[in-house]
Amino acid sequence: MSKSKWCRGVAMVGAGMSKFGAFPDKASRDLFVEAYLEMKKSVDRGFDPERIDAFYLGNFSSDLFEKQAHFAPILASWIGLSPKSSVRIEDACASGGVAIRQAALAIASGEYDVVLVGGLEKMTDLNIAAVTEVLATAADTEFEIPAGFTFPGFYAAMATAYMAEFGAPCEAFYEVSIKNHKNGALNDKAQFGQTILEIMDSKKAKAIKKGRPVPEWKDEIDFLSDPKGNPQIAWPMALFDCSPVSDGAAAVLLVSEDIAHEFSDSPLYLIGSGQASDGALPDRENLYSIPAARIAGEQAYEMAGLKADDIDFAEVHDCFTIAEIMASEDLGFFPRGEGWKAAMEGKTARNGVHPINTSGGLKAKGHPVGASGVGQMNEIWKQLHGKAGQRQIEGNPKIGLAHNVGGSGQTCVVNIFERRD
Ligand code: COA
Repeated sequence: MSKSKWCRGVAMVGAGMSKFGAFPDKASRDLFVEAYLEMKKSVDRGFDPERIDAFYLGNFSSDLFEKQAHFAPILASWIGLSPKSSVRIEDACASGGVAIRQAALAIASGEYDVVLVGGLEKMTDLNIAAVTEVLATAADTEFEIPAGFTFPGFYAAMATAYMAEFGAPCEAFYEVSIKNHKNGALNDKAQFGQTILEIMDSKKAKAIKKGRPVPEWKDEIDFLSDPKGNPQIAWPMALFDCSPVSDGAAAVLLVSEDIAHEFSDSPLYLIGSGQASDGALPDRENLYSIPAARIAGEQAYEMAGLKADDIDFAEVHDCFTIAEIMASEDLGFFPRGEGWKAAMEGKTARNGVHPINTSGGLKAKGHPVGASGVGQMNEIWKQLHGKAGQRQIEGNPKIGLAHNVGGSGQTCVVNIFERRD
């Protein structure tokens, strides 16, 4: 039975996003306009933007990435929303998912009826060393950074702990990457439009063209096992275990449930939502799970009156491949220590028992950090409306879950949406 303390229900009536990737010639505000216009088009009954009461923006660090702070009112004015209230939400890589939840809470309270939620990050104007330094500000600069951690390092520590505890091999991580690249190759918004097999073949073709020795990779696992194809970043996390550095924007329109049909013939209802936090990595009982994710998931399931097995598909925060495996356990799709086997057995593929990251996930779709949580909504929107094209999962999915993590697990937010026929 559903247990919601919210004063009224909330529905999503539109979703859009820019392509994710590296866009040196585009301003971040133009990426946001692309996302906003696509969202507007997706609202099938149309709406007057005058009806928008407030704007919530998920953005991690436009200050450091672009030297532009205070971006919410600037973007609001850029799309003609002034003088409506605008708020920037910063919760590291979970900024977008938290913005969705905060906007929903504002609607549930009765304060607003119609809220625009945006997510935005432009990371590629800086070089990789500077990007890594900016990302590191999301960690605990007293207890984590002085120990020498970068984000690949955090997740490498979690991966080694996971491997030691449960005996998982690197091949389990490779399978996550292969699957997510396969899904991303079917998503025209994804940063990486190629499967790993295609990337491997194009590297061979390049070697032939340049008259260099041609690598003898026989399949994707062979390619990913070879540091020449897949160089180490922070062992055991290699290049293809990492989400990329990305630019991108996403937007959704949330409204109170009672007016949802004025906007859409097929609104998606936010039936479960939860959020939890945690301290630095050294405070954790173990490194092979993310307690904030488990707690946020439990809150969302309780509010929705659902169990993990009721979820038709999930978009989870695979900033690194190990993160997807831990999420599949933290959210209860598989027992603790079994997520890696499920990944290897194809249980998280589009036709698996628990499809995960049909969009390509952060790994292949891209990870413009503050936009990622709102980007996840786009897959929920497409899959639940049967509009995901070649990556559409079968069985008429009705319930989709999004899991968005900030830092090394200091923030996690989980939102569950339902389509009602
Ligand atoms: N996965 C697969 N391929 C990638 C990739 C990734 N994550 N990142 C870059 N590439 C490819 C590029 O397309 C390029 O391919 P090409 O040579 O065929 O053109 C090649 O690798 C080199 O790209 P480059 O941009 O020079 O890589 P880089 O070394 O600067 O960055 C990482 C690679 C892994 C260090 C960077 O993507 C990274 O830091 N990722 C993690 C980001 C992060 O921590 N986010 C927050 C998570 S909490």
